[in-house]
Amino acid sequence: MKDPITVSITGAAGNIGYALLFRIASGSVFGPDQPVNLNLIEIEPALPALQGVVMELDDCAFPLLNEITATADLNEGFKDADWALLVGSVPRKAGMERNDLLGINGKIFTGQGQAIAANAKSSCRTLVVGNPCNTNCLIAMSNAAGLPKNQFFAMTRLDENRAKSQLAAKAGVHSSQVTNLCIWGNHSATQYPDFTNAKIDGKPVTEVITDIDWLKGEFISTVQQRGAAIIKARGASSAASAANAALDTVVSLINPTPEGDWHSVAVCSDGSYGIEAGIMASMPIRTNADGTWEVVQGVPVDEFSQEKIDATIAELVEERDAVKDLIPG
Ligand code: NAI
Repeated sequence: MKDPITVSITGAAGNIGYALLFRIASGSVFGPDQPVNLNLIEIEPALPALQGVVMELDDCAFPLLNEITATADLNEGFKDADWALLVGSVPRKAGMERNDLLGINGKIFTGQGQAIAANAKSSCRTLVVGNPCNTNCLIAMSNAAGLPKNQFFAMTRLDENRAKSQLAAKAGVHSSQVTNLCIWGNHSATQYPDFTNAKIDGKPVTEVITDIDWLKGEFISTVQQRGAAIIKARGASSAASAANAALDTVVSLINPTPEGDWHSVAVCSDGSYGIEAGIMASMPIRTNADGTWEVVQGVPVDEFSQEKIDATIAELVEERDAVKDLIPG
């Protein structure tokens, strides 16, 4: 049996946490021969609820679940972490401006970035799910002194999965037949699901779906507004599909990407595609056989796409500027 890996998860008593933990503990993410320790991190008032989740994890008697730590202490919570999944954050309330939310959550992510740097393994990879996830991730990364920037990611995989499912439904195929779908930019309503480079059964989407007005209009807005549509229908925000996307992201980052394909995740820009270096922007990513990742270069960006990418990057730059006090020089 391999040595256990340690996965630290914030917001573990929340809705996404509830849909996430059991799948990690079951072995469906890190493999059927990989034991895991779960470090579950919550704020003090949520610790009793977290205890209930721990009882349920115990009651599953998962063969691969080695140890569970439930804590409100960040040092204990990130101790020896191989992966940090930062899910917990404060939801936007009525009357709250986006900048208020950035400020409130930003403070959470400075402390978590510092605690990851001080306690986790130097190889620890961090995936931020809690919104606004790109900028929260930028804050965590900037406060995690000594950890390489290429170990920080923010989640746009739910948007990718949503986009694939919309294209598949329109074309009358299974979503697994849709590949090369890149979400560019921010996980927000400005994100750009790039249909111009996506493929269905290896053919350009624009050859299979000839309704270009739908692609440029309803398709993009449906993906951008899907979160709001789910809240309206369910009376609660997407949790199971968000947890699924977080796990898809981890799986895609630890396994080689199929030849010719890519996956979407926000990474610290190196200036590729003219995206300002240093911001956390979603782009096409490939994971190599040795476990490293790279930005896929040379993906064609036409005039329509460039305009959309510029808009979402402008929003990320604005968000970065709004939290500059939380980013050490
Ligand atoms: P939730 O409100 O059910 O759970 C959040 C949990 O985080 C609560 O248990 C809360 O006590 C905890 N929490 C708050 N501050 C914390 C802190 N400082 N440290 C540790 N835990 C803390 O929310 P849910 O549905 O689980 O969503 C979590 C986050 O994920 C939200 O910010 C949501 O907007 C975001 N999200 C992101 C998506 C993406 O695609 N990137 C998709 C869907 C949701």
